[in-house]
Amino acid sequence: ERPEVEGAGNPSEAAKKVKIGIYFATWWALNVVFNIYNKKVLNVYPYPWLTSTLSLACGSLLMLISWATRIAEPPKTDLEFWKTLFPVAVAHTIGHVAATVSMSKVAVSFTHIIKSGEPAFSVLVSRFLLGETFPVPVYLSLIPIIGGCALAAVTELNFNMIGFMGAMISNLAFVFRNIFSKKGMKGKAVSGMNYYACLSILSLAILTPFAIAVEGPQMWAAGWQTALSQIGPQFILWMAAQSIFYHLYNQVSYMSLDEISPLTFSIGNTMKRISVIVSSIIIFHTPVQPVNALGAAIAIFGTFLYSQCFEPWRILCKGCTREDSEGN
Ligand code: 3PG
Repeated sequence: ERPEVEGAGNPSEAAKKVKIGIYFATWWALNVVFNIYNKKVLNVYPYPWLTSTLSLACGSLLMLISWATRIAEPPKTDLEFWKTLFPVAVAHTIGHVAATVSMSKVAVSFTHIIKSGEPAFSVLVSRFLLGETFPVPVYLSLIPIIGGCALAAVTELNFNMIGFMGAMISNLAFVFRNIFSKKGMKGKAVSGMNYYACLSILSLAILTPFAIAVEGPQMWAAGWQTALSQIGPQFILWMAAQSIFYHLYNQVSYMSLDEISPLTFSIGNTMKRISVIVSSIIIFHTPVQPVNALGAAIAIFGTFLYSQCFEPWRILCKGCTREDSEGN
């Protein structure tokens, strides 16, 4: 079982909080850097299927080298592990490509505003596909999430349907990824870091043929020349940065899952979106109307209410583990 970190009153509590604070700060910072470089690349090189593949390839390569040189202990896996990982990897691949396609069409901030609605998808999938029921406050918290996202979407100055649908598909896929990975990480034979490494390798294998079919080397090569002539050799550094930081932020987020409950993780993820939304608006000078910002704020406030509704329910729901009661 995952150790609980919430609660207070013993001396090691402060040390744990500091550790979690460091995890969160690192996760958010890496994520902000990824989002900035990813968008810089997509602005001049609009091939999201390739950039998604390269970010998985980079992570896979880094981990294979770490295992070969024993910087990291390689995981002991069997066929059963990879079979259980497969649906997680399919969902991870779809969610990743969909988010990247979204960001190639709309502002980073818009993608993340829509992605802040992930808890709503989690509840709806659990309710309608898995037949789980939730207490009324959980359903009520969906009103600001869905309402806020809707308000932000209809007032978005550069609205684009592919951008919107990409973020929505990413939400749906990541809900399934989380549902499947609850089973996959059970038993904890593989650490969070190695679990994410195996996930990258399998996702890379799944994604590569699709990326070639949808975009393909001819498009990539032609676009590469254009991007290089516009930006210069620095473009290669941007590409490397988006790939490396994608792996690092995901690795840290999976490592933090070893230390924190999914509930704390889900709150951390929402706070992460706030840092990305604010920093990308500043860096890319994204035009935002007050009513658009209001929609985003309402949606994020809704995800906060949602996370607050889960805790009392978990206590009431006798015999439920955090994993069972935390939908996101
Ligand atoms: C991706 O490219 O996979 C998305 O940007 C991931 O989004 P998230 O990790 O912030 O949910």
